[in-house]
Amino acid sequence: MIEGFAPAKVNLALHVTGQRTDGYHLLDSLVMFADFGDYLTLQKAEEISISLSGPRVEGVPADARNLCWQAARFFGANVAITLEKHLPNQAGIGGGSADAAAVLRGLSELYQRPVPDGAEMLGADLPVCLHGRAARLQGVGEVITPLDVPPLPAILVNPGCAVETPQIFKALTRRDYAALAPLPQTSSRREFCAWLREQRNDLIDPALRLFPEIGAVLTRLSELPGQLHYGMSGSGATCFTLFDSRGEADLAVRDIQRDQPDWWVQDCTLS
Ligand code: C5P
Repeated sequence: MIEGFAPAKVNLALHVTGQRTDGYHLLDSLVMFADFGDYLTLQKAEEISISLSGPRVEGVPADARNLCWQAARFFGANVAITLEKHLPNQAGIGGGSADAAAVLRGLSELYQRPVPDGAEMLGADLPVCLHGRAARLQGVGEVITPLDVPPLPAILVNPGCAVETPQIFKALTRRDYAALAPLPQTSSRREFCAWLREQRNDLIDPALRLFPEIGAVLTRLSELPGQLHYGMSGSGATCFTLFDSRGEADLAVRDIQRDQPDWWVQDCTLS
């Protein structure tokens, strides 16, 4: 049996720079991964199966609609998968893609053969989730450049609305935004966050129009003591705040949990 970890993926910046003729969007994004996520086990079996547990199973299918199932089929392996869900579903932090990447990594270890080329056909976030560390993502998600970025204490906050990614892309009013500014070479969290504050998530505007509750989250995050930067990940609705220390992140989690008990709030370190 193999154990796997599927960390949350966070887009700290996400610029939409164009659109391909097949409708997919060209992106320029800075992505990091949390030390928080879903847990899996994989065991060789007669057929593919998924058994779900954990606090965030609601709405997660346990059949061929689950990306983990599709990942096993793509790899060509019959495997019994247990999946302990901690990441909210349809939340802009990778969820299904992170799980599928963990399945592919685990199967590669279990069967001692590399992950076949073409995993991006399972989802545009698969390549970066397979990489699993700080990276710049370009193209429609298939061009991954590893980055040396300081680890960042953070909190993740989701107001509880499930967001359909295609809906957000469709609601864009422009698709020709500028690429990321040249990346800073720095080990200082403050300098790195100063650079991030000059970047954008171009999906925020359409996401706010369709899900105004994201605006309430961003306002709350902007007011947190000690925050170095805040924004929205992917197509939402999960938002993040970055801090200089884990202590400040812990305090922020407690504050938000007290006055917004219905929001999902999680502290973590991004790397
Ligand atoms: O590939 P994935 O299924 O994760 O993408 C979900 C949807 O998000 C796509 O069907 C597409 O509408 C949109 N998308 C896009 N351009 C990207 C990635 C995703 O338009 N680069």
